[in-house]
Amino acid sequence: MALVTWNDSYNVNVKSFDTQHKQLFDLINQLHDSMMVGKGKEVMGDVLKSLVSYTKTHFSEEERLLKMHKYPDYEKQVKEHDGFVQQMLDLQKKHAAGNAAITLTTLNFLRDWLQKHINGDDKKYSSYLNSKGVS
Ligand SMILES: [Fe+2]
Repeated sequence: MALVTWNDSYNVNVKSFDTQHKQLFDLINQLHDSMMVGKGKEVMGDVLKSLVSYTKTHFSEEERLLKMHKYPDYEKQVKEHDGFVQQMLDLQKKHAAGNAAITLTTLNFLRDWLQKHINGDDKKYSSYLNSKGVS
């Protein structure tokens, strides 16, 4: 069963970002599925790597567009993104070193952070970007 299911309440009204957010949910679900069927450390490490890399790509695309349109809360977005990436990198490092298994607690943390971020900080840029002709 999926750990997180997309629905329209997560829409930020910018098509490419909605697509990317869906993809992030998919990757979290993939990590969850791999954990549930007891995939080995190496497979888990690979899925985690994809999640970290896609998250970074997505954050830079958001930041690029927000900067381009002089979004007033740009710095806050960057700070939130950087903090999350740092936590993911720590987790990845510990996992690779054999010091952290990917548990349901970890997955819940990743899911909760993303849900909260999308519903909070990201939704705040919707009307701003829409007013700049981005949708
Ligand atoms: Fe964001």
